Amino acid sequence: MPEMPPMGAAVNLGRMAEFDGKTVLITGGGSGIGLATARQLVDAGANVVLAGRRVEKIDAAAKELDPTGDRVLAVGTDVSREDELDELATRVRGRFGRLDGVFANAGMASYNPISPRADVSDAEFDRYVGVNFKGAFFAIQKTLPLFDKGGSVVLNSTCLAHRGMGLTMGLATMYGSTKAAVTSLARLLASDLASQGVRVNSVSPGFIRTEMFDELAPTDEARDVCSQLVPAGRLGTPEEVAEAVTFLLSDRARYITGQDLGVDGGLVASQPMNPPVQM
Ligand SMILES: NC(=O)c1ccc[n+]([C@@H]2O[C@H](COP(=O)([O-])OP(=O)(O)OC[C@H]3O[C@@H](n4cnc5c(N)ncnc54)[C@H](OP(=O)(O)O)[C@@H]3O)[C@@H](O)[C@H]2O)c1
Repeated sequence: MPEMPPMGAAVNLGRMAEFDGKTVLITGGGSGIGLATARQLVDAGANVVLAGRRVEKIDAAAKELDPTGDRVLAVGTDVSREDELDELATRVRGRFGRLDGVFANAGMASYNPISPRADVSDAEFDRYVGVNFKGAFFAIQKTLPLFDKGGSVVLNSTCLAHRGMGLTMGLATMYGSTKAAVTSLARLLASDLASQGVRVNSVSPGFIRTEMFDELAPTDEARDVCSQLVPAGRLGTPEEVAEAVTFLLSDRARYITGQDLGVDGGLVASQPMNPPVQM
């Protein structure tokens, strides 16, 4: 008979140890949804690798998550650069030997919903595709050899991959299109990698209060307008997206692959965002 905990003691239902001995890479792990996911994974026992361009940001996050430095590794990485992804994979192998999960979360969005521009430049197009789509593709390609016992990959897409915002054709449209490629990539990889025991899914967040969101909607008024578009009546939190990602990374989702999970308070399921967002 297993020993029963004393009456009134907190009972660990297994969640805390769910990731014991597992290692997960998070791109864009120094802030927002990536950092919230890292916190939940470390709490659940995982080793975590944080990758991002701002080294001071991921270093500070790593120190906060694990002051001993044993379980969290920060690696300065620009996901749009193949050589840096090679270096990232080498550093992960050197430190932890292998991987059980990847959250391909790094992404960029710089559209201005207040005065949308239609004049997307060639350079902007390449940059969006390079970070959001190519960055996710090669982050997974370079780290797949580290999955020696199967595992789980989650990609971060967006509600804008599934519906328009009624804005002028421009950066928002391009952003959503690069993320639609991410959603599609998750579905195709799910089929490609099933025989290796690797599951692949995506999440599609709605309006989530992060650094990125605050740059797109920088005033209380703008954020209120966004909240009113959400059937749930409020913006989401990074922790709420992290819950979905952590679930998909875990063995609780062992029979789920090739799916996109909206974490958007009902945004995509509701009326089209039309008339256009007036900030
Ligand atoms: N917030 C929302 O409402 C929302 C909605 C839908 C989807 N998303 C998606 O969620 C993901 C995370 O965004 P967030 O909302 O959590 O905002 P965030 O806090 O600004 O996070 C974005 C992260 O991506 C990293 N990043 C950007 N470009 C990179 C590059 N070239 N190489 C490596 N890392 C890079 C950033 O770190 P560095 O700058 O240090 O590189 C940052 O940590 C993004 O893919 C975003 O598109 C967000």
